[in-house]
Amino acid sequence: MFLAGPASARGTLHGVVELREKVVLVTGGTGGIGKETARGLVRLGARVVVTGRDPGRAAAVAEELGVDALIADVTRQRDLRALAETVGERYGGLYALINNAGVHPPRRELTEDGVESAFAGNVLAPYLLTRLLLPALRRGAAGGTARVVNITGGVPRGRLDPGNLQAERRFTGWLTDTQYNRTKLAMMAVSRTQAERYGGPDIAVTVAYPGHADTPMTRALPIRTYPVLLRPVVPLVRPLMPLLWSDASRPARTAVRVVAADAANGVYVGMNGRRARWPAATTDPAVRDLLWTMCERLAPA
Ligand SMILES: NC(=O)c1ccc[n+]([C@@H]2O[C@H](COP(=O)([O-])OP(=O)(O)OC[C@H]3O[C@@H](n4cnc5c(N)ncnc54)[C@H](OP(=O)(O)O)[C@@H]3O)[C@@H](O)[C@H]2O)c1
Repeated sequence: MFLAGPASARGTLHGVVELREKVVLVTGGTGGIGKETARGLVRLGARVVVTGRDPGRAAAVAEELGVDALIADVTRQRDLRALAETVGERYGGLYALINNAGVHPPRRELTEDGVESAFAGNVLAPYLLTRLLLPALRRGAAGGTARVVNITGGVPRGRLDPGNLQAERRFTGWLTDTQYNRTKLAMMAVSRTQAERYGGPDIAVTVAYPGHADTPMTRALPIRTYPVLLRPVVPLVRPLMPLLWSDASRPARTAVRVVAADAANGVYVGMNGRRARWPAATTDPAVRDLLWTMCERLAPA
């Protein structure tokens, strides 16, 4: 096991890693925060590959930022497997994988793999893509430490009910108990197991909270997606969101910093770029074992 300090460790990430010619993959990098993350990494000299579902948006971003763009829907396992194969063949080594694409569906729906879609996109996709890309990451480390950066969001706290991980009983609750928050919290628990299993001198797994931005995801959310008690204030706050959070480059800085600073395996980095305390549910070994076993079962090798 290779953990960089206790869960309560504080402090800012240090160091500057030379990114010139290093290959970095950003899922959901054709729009929103992911696109600004890609822009920030290009500025630091990295060779960036972005993914998205829409070929038109992908082509436009490839031209605007000078990046490569690949098509993959993170809620589809066949797309993730094809993506990993293409990345391995085309680039050989991968220095960093940023599992940025997030899924916030308006209601409970199942993917073609039979998995609840937020669980598929927010938990299984970072799990599966990381596992498939481990050989490329080990090659890309090239004597340094390759990075896996899993992007969390929402309000990732509270309990994880083993009987409701795929919203089998309840999709949206009263305050913070939503399927989006639940799956981001579950992903953080899985990330800690990834850090224990994969982390070492050649790979570091870090979770990052980007902070808020007015993006295609936030704009598309119907009011019923919000927790019941927040619904009355959503129409009042919504017009302010483009004013308060128009700049997606600010939240993008967190992931750029994790890639460009010294490796921080098993660390949770908050939106101020400082180490943050892991939510209590992610420290529960029973929850973590259950989630890992679920991932293995739902996305077999
Ligand atoms: N926005 C916020 O305030 C906020 C706050 C905290 C955390 N976060 C987290 O930060 C990350 C980025 O958030 P964002 O607001 O920028 O999200 P977003 O608006 O959904 O991001 C758009 C990008 O994601 C791609 N995308 C969307 N669904 C996808 C799917 N199923 N498969 C593959 N690509 C997909 C889009 O391309 P296509 O549409 O062409 O697929 C586009 O490249 C997410 O993990 C989110 O949970 C966001």
